[in-house]
Amino acid sequence: MNDPVAPDSPSPAAVSSSAVPPLLELSEVVVRFGGNVAVDGASLTVDAGTIVGLIGPNGAGKTTTFNVITGLERPSSGRVRWAGDDISGLAAHRRARLGLARTFQRLELFGSLSVAENVLFAAELCRRQGGTVRPPVVDVAPDVDAVHETAALLERVGLGDLAATRAEELPTGLARLTELARALATRPRLLLLDEPASGLDERETERFADLLVELAADGLGILLVEHDVPLVMRIASRVFVLDLGRILASGTPAEVQRDQRVIDAYLGAAPVGEV
Ligand SMILES: Nc1ncnc2c1ncn2[C@@H]1O[C@H](COP(=O)(O)OP(=O)(O)OP(=O)(O)O)[C@@H](O)[C@H]1O
Ligand SMILES: [Mg+2]
Repeated sequence: MNDPVAPDSPSPAAVSSSAVPPLLELSEVVVRFGGNVAVDGASLTVDAGTIVGLIGPNGAGKTTTFNVITGLERPSSGRVRWAGDDISGLAAHRRARLGLARTFQRLELFGSLSVAENVLFAAELCRRQGGTVRPPVVDVAPDVDAVHETAALLERVGLGDLAATRAEELPTGLARLTELARALATRPRLLLLDEPASGLDERETERFADLLVELAADGLGILLVEHDVPLVMRIASRVFVLDLGRILASGTPAEVQRDQRVIDAYLGAAPVGEV
């Protein structure tokens, strides 16, 4: 991994061995699809209460990296650690129970259900079995606490007035907020967001950014994949840049934005956001 941090600085792993281990640690992850190497030795860490950006060009391997973290994709090699424990062999639903939640690049809502129902099922399933989100199979009275939690979450993400709207009627930006609320209903410790701001207008993006900062201040770890680079640079404390499956650079937003390799591979000559 090429890191702009000075060579004699301790690696994230070395730092964590003498302190609290990171909430999430990926070490040298490789994913091959036939002859194509989608992720090529990527390592990264996310600490509780921080927002970490994962950026890079189309096809760089960002979503595949998320799939490895959540257990949807088995890496050809490399490890995934959760608070210091090796969870590389753990099934996706068991990882969800540990407190790992994600939103999807392509929306995965139940379109014929209301906004509130989409969130409620996640809240109820989390309470009953700490499990993953599936459509309802039985018609039972909702858990009152889960109903209250759902209402509070919808208010928090700004969807209070749209609770009864069918998910398929939502514009993309509001559907993404519903996905966020649904992920939060599982009470995650780490939230993986795959292009959550695409389809959001400027005002919605501002509000969304504030919300992520609040959530991190409450202790949530957030790994943010996003092509809205100014947004990432504004709210992330650390940014990893993926290119052709490799971590090209990592560091603070300011360090990453002035890294010539990152400018050449992804950012281009135009400055993005404040440095
Ligand atoms: N299931 C799969 N089978 C074969 N190749 C795949 C599969 N999933 C992803 N790939 C390939 O792996 C590479 C990385 O894809 P990935 O979707 O992880 O990129 P990404 O960084 O998320 O891109 P984008 O910004 O466009 O979402 C690409 O070359 C893609 O075509
Ligand atoms: Mg992707």
